[in-house]
Amino acid sequence: MEIVAGAGIGEEGGDRLVVPVLSGLTWGPGAAEVRDALDGRVETFLEAVDFEAKRGQVAVLPVDDQLPYGDVMFVGLGDEVDAEALRRAAGTAAARSARSRTVATTLHRLDIDGAVEAVAVGYLLGAYSFDRYRSDPTPRRNDRLVLIDAGEVEDEIASGRTIADGVALARDLVNEPAVAKPPEALAEIARGLSESVRVDVYDEAACAEMGFGGLLAVAAGSARPPRMVVMRYEPDDATASLALVGKGIVFDSGGLSLKPAKSMEEMKTDMAGAAAVFGATKAIASLGLPVKVVAVTPITENMPGGGATRPGDVLTAYNGKTIEVLNTDAEGRLVLADALAYVAETEPDLIVDLATLTGACKVALGPKIAGVLGNDDDAIGRVVGAARAAGESVWQLPLEREYRKMIDSSIADMKNTGERWGGAITAALLLDEFVDDRPWVHLDIAGPARASSDEHYIAKGGTGFGVRTLVELARSLAP
Ligand code: BES
Ligand code: MN
Ligand code: ZN
Repeated sequence: MEIVAGAGIGEEGGDRLVVPVLSGLTWGPGAAEVRDALDGRVETFLEAVDFEAKRGQVAVLPVDDQLPYGDVMFVGLGDEVDAEALRRAAGTAAARSARSRTVATTLHRLDIDGAVEAVAVGYLLGAYSFDRYRSDPTPRRNDRLVLIDAGEVEDEIASGRTIADGVALARDLVNEPAVAKPPEALAEIARGLSESVRVDVYDEAACAEMGFGGLLAVAAGSARPPRMVVMRYEPDDATASLALVGKGIVFDSGGLSLKPAKSMEEMKTDMAGAAAVFGATKAIASLGLPVKVVAVTPITENMPGGGATRPGDVLTAYNGKTIEVLNTDAEGRLVLADALAYVAETEPDLIVDLATLTGACKVALGPKIAGVLGNDDDAIGRVVGAARAAGESVWQLPLEREYRKMIDSSIADMKNTGERWGGAITAALLLDEFVDDRPWVHLDIAGPARASSDEHYIAKGGTGFGVRTLVELARSLAP
């Protein structure tokens, strides 16, 4: 998809012109010009199709030679316009314009900071589809977006593209079937992320030598060996350091504590945290942000093979703490334990982990909102602010230390499951044992990592949730 800065509405031309309209039919940039060109037809048309400019509403009006476009698409923005409203409107326009080769728009002319980047991100993501496994994919002709009267916006277009590419990478990896993503294949993808990212991969033997007991315990039941992937981006001008950790369970069958069939259907998604860390690391490096990043993704598969870890087994994690595994389906926290302890040793300013960790978090916050927990209010505030700027929904849950006794074990330092209630919190309390009291924020993305239907710039399937928040976070650390 090409995105270019163009001239005026009358000078450009194409298959479609997309113009924004606010509630109460308040005309956005360019809409008045369109209305004048079509003398009077616009109001009658919008009234006839009940267009009220609600968020997400669109109406398409074919035009003749009054304007150099095949049709005009009016997109509703609702009452309040912010960057996320632009992303969503652009995403809706892209998703519904698959058959229009060239689309021009004035959306970016709304008076919002970062409008061009937001429109670029929303449009590119709205045009995303995962077609690898279709023998006859619906053709997408849409390959050119023209930003009307845009001026000098090449840099903003480029940063928007970089961010959208990071999100698309994460989506692709999540959408890929588990059979096609053995841990070693994901490690190879990490190696190819960027020339400015140095990658070390620990294979099974190296993991044993390192003492990654959590990762090995989860991997024990799988025929495909695990990998601990360590990515480092170390720009000379770094002014802050950020550690990222992503859960990379390429398939979660539950292990011997086997999941019911229905719950397994979407468990290829259980590496969405790792996928987001890949996408964000690539984007941060490509943007050249002056932040040192160490990104670690434990990658394995949770299977019930003959060598599998049994309920009641005890493992020793990288920092020497022991965990009694009572439910092998609470595997995410085991692999994260090693990765968190490992990055804590590098003494970063901030540790952020992303994980499709608990069904309990999805129950608490629903499918669109990630849970945020952590040990440091400033750090949590920073991540919540970054998420807001990026347009990703997060909500804080308490890291209630009174619940720590729920994961007391009768024979080890802790057990890997709590009681019935508060599952997102007890999972985070286990992670807290491995960050060595460094500032740490945990994002439980069990809900928003996948979407059950298409909506604005989201396509059903992997969403790439977290990539944009992490990029904004890195930007906020490097003002
Ligand atoms: N990967 C799952 C969590 C999950 C559930 C993600 C639904 C996305 C959608 C995780 O490994 C898991 O199985 N958690 C268990 C923990 C329990 C056994 C303590 C859960 O949430 O049921
Ligand atoms: Mn599980
Ligand atoms: Zn899992």
